[in-house]
Amino acid sequence: MSVPRLRLGVNIDHIATVRNARGGDLPDPVRGALSAIAAGADGITAHLREDRRHIRDEDIARLMKAISKPLNFEMAVTDEMIGIALDTNPHAACLVPEKRSERTTEGGLDVIGGHDHVKAATSALKAAGIRVSLFIEPSSAALEAAKSIGSPVVELHTGAWCDAAMSGATDKAEHEFSRIRLAAAQAARLGIECHAGHGLDYVTARRIAALPQIVELNIGHFLMGEALFVGLPQAIATMRAAMDAGRAEA
Ligand code: PXP
Repeated sequence: MSVPRLRLGVNIDHIATVRNARGGDLPDPVRGALSAIAAGADGITAHLREDRRHIRDEDIARLMKAISKPLNFEMAVTDEMIGIALDTNPHAACLVPEKRSERTTEGGLDVIGGHDHVKAATSALKAAGIRVSLFIEPSSAALEAAKSIGSPVVELHTGAWCDAAMSGATDKAEHEFSRIRLAAAQAARLGIECHAGHGLDYVTARRIAALPQIVELNIGHFLMGEALFVGLPQAIATMRAAMDAGRAEA
């Protein structure tokens, strides 16, 4: 079986975080998106939060005009955000929790307790031709719920694994990684496209790249931190190389 190419989605939220720390227009997240694409990003991810703490409405409109690669619009499951997504018509929408009540105990979208609400949002976005993804915990129950909701894509939350790996909690990290491995295999059995993200760095991206069912990684904070020291194009090139090295072991 041939292993599909692993796409890199670059999340530019934290370019906007730095801009907003001072007010004004700089650094410009759209410039960051164009630079990321020139350096090899396969898509751009931006999260328009309800409090607009980083990306703003006009950033989304400018990104839609400026970028040549797909925009993955991260959004809470609210009427306001569904309205903006339908007006904007991005390539993809990733539904994420913003409030405690929308999260599972571990941090992914509560697709079990919020099943009907998430299903209604998913159906509305799908009807508009937007590819929906649900940001979920790597658990069997969450995947079954995503299937029942009718989501064509899930993004597995890698935060617990990355936190454990970075803090040297080896047993916990191995436990979390095996949950991701099993969830990726289950997604494939259910016919759901599998993405992953949150907290990934060069080491964890390389390792997860070896899971053949995962076709996209979405990475932001680490890349922007690296960009401070080596520049965004170099950070993306090093990430791409780490992903390719991991993929070669799949
Ligand atoms: N995927 C999703 C759904 C996210 O919400 C985020 C941002 O929290 C990311 C990926 C990227 O995470 P990070 O910035 O830690 O790389």
